[in-house]
Amino acid sequence: MKKQILVTGGTGYIGSHTVVELQEKGYEVVIVDDLSNSSIDVLDAIGKITGLRPAFEQFDLSDSIKTNTFFDKYTDIEAIIHFAAFKAVGESVGKPLNYYRNNLNSLMNLLDNMKRRNIINMVFSSSCTVYGQPDVLPVVENTPRKQAESPYGNTKSICEDILRDCCKAYPQINCIALRYFNPIGAHPSSLIGELPLGVPNNLVPFITQTAAGLRDELSIFGDNYNTPDGTAIRDYINVVDLAKAHVIAINRLLNKKRTSNYEYFNIGTGEGYSVLQLVKTFIAVTGVNLAYKIVERRAGDIEKIWADTSIANNELGWKAETSLGDTLLSAWNWEKKVRGLGN
Ligand code: UD1
Repeated sequence: MKKQILVTGGTGYIGSHTVVELQEKGYEVVIVDDLSNSSIDVLDAIGKITGLRPAFEQFDLSDSIKTNTFFDKYTDIEAIIHFAAFKAVGESVGKPLNYYRNNLNSLMNLLDNMKRRNIINMVFSSSCTVYGQPDVLPVVENTPRKQAESPYGNTKSICEDILRDCCKAYPQINCIALRYFNPIGAHPSSLIGELPLGVPNNLVPFITQTAAGLRDELSIFGDNYNTPDGTAIRDYINVVDLAKAHVIAINRLLNKKRTSNYEYFNIGTGEGYSVLQLVKTFIAVTGVNLAYKIVERRAGDIEKIWADTSIANNELGWKAETSLGDTLLSAWNWEKKVRGLGN
């Protein structure tokens, strides 16, 4: 019998790419998503790529009654990948309660059902935001976590604490937290990708929308950081490479290969790129010119971060494979597809 995996937030950006990779490896998927930041059309797109439209239930996982009812209905779930969460850093500063309520309650409702129903495996969507601005680079998994800059970031840190404590108290439960660096790009089919509502907060969607003519110019937030060209540095990870890390984590849990029942891994490329380097790479690989200007730093931004990925490479046998140029090209192809622009 096929192993059934619950993917929460499975119609979202990283979730949808992960569902594709899971189905392509023969897993049966059921998605739960409240569609608060994604579209039902993603199910058809996944169907087109993989030949299989996953099972889907629409509800908010921070509602404990609905979550319990879901688990009454789906009794063959062997593992959960938990993506569903609010993720807008800026918005979280103005609406902290929404973020704490949604992101913490949904995790606790899932864990409660895992404990009661003997579902023992979870992969959790964490973030490099838990490191804050680290003192030493690159960051390794045991680099001390710092106070997060935003309520959103703090929810990721608290969720990691909840998982650690639950794995200690309930030793039958096994969790892997994946700390993503900056996920970018889209599926090579251009059938799924990142589709932010309104004005994008994140760099790459803003770039592709500007290149597509939806925005006049990109604002680069600060050129006076302590970096070679003065712009901030991040570790940009291809979303399909990132999705594959989840399948590896699921295999690890199901095959009981872990070293402890709570593990956490950096999922990045191991290389830092500045905002200007990224912009120049985008222009070089797409041939599209991009208007940009330098403006003030964005509040809450850190100066630089990139991952040491040796533990993920050695323990998981996972490695980022796609170049920054190819990843930016995939993001551009997706934007063109969404906007109906030809090649
Ligand atoms: C943030 C979060 C990260 C979260 C991600 C997705 C932190 C420290 N990081 O990443 O955890 O997963 O959002 O929501 O909280 N930039 C510009 N112009 C723009 C947009 C961005 O110059 O119009 C710059 C930023 O200043 C930054 C870089 O591009 O240096 C990347 O920004 P962004 O894509 O927003 O991601 P992070 O802020 O790194």
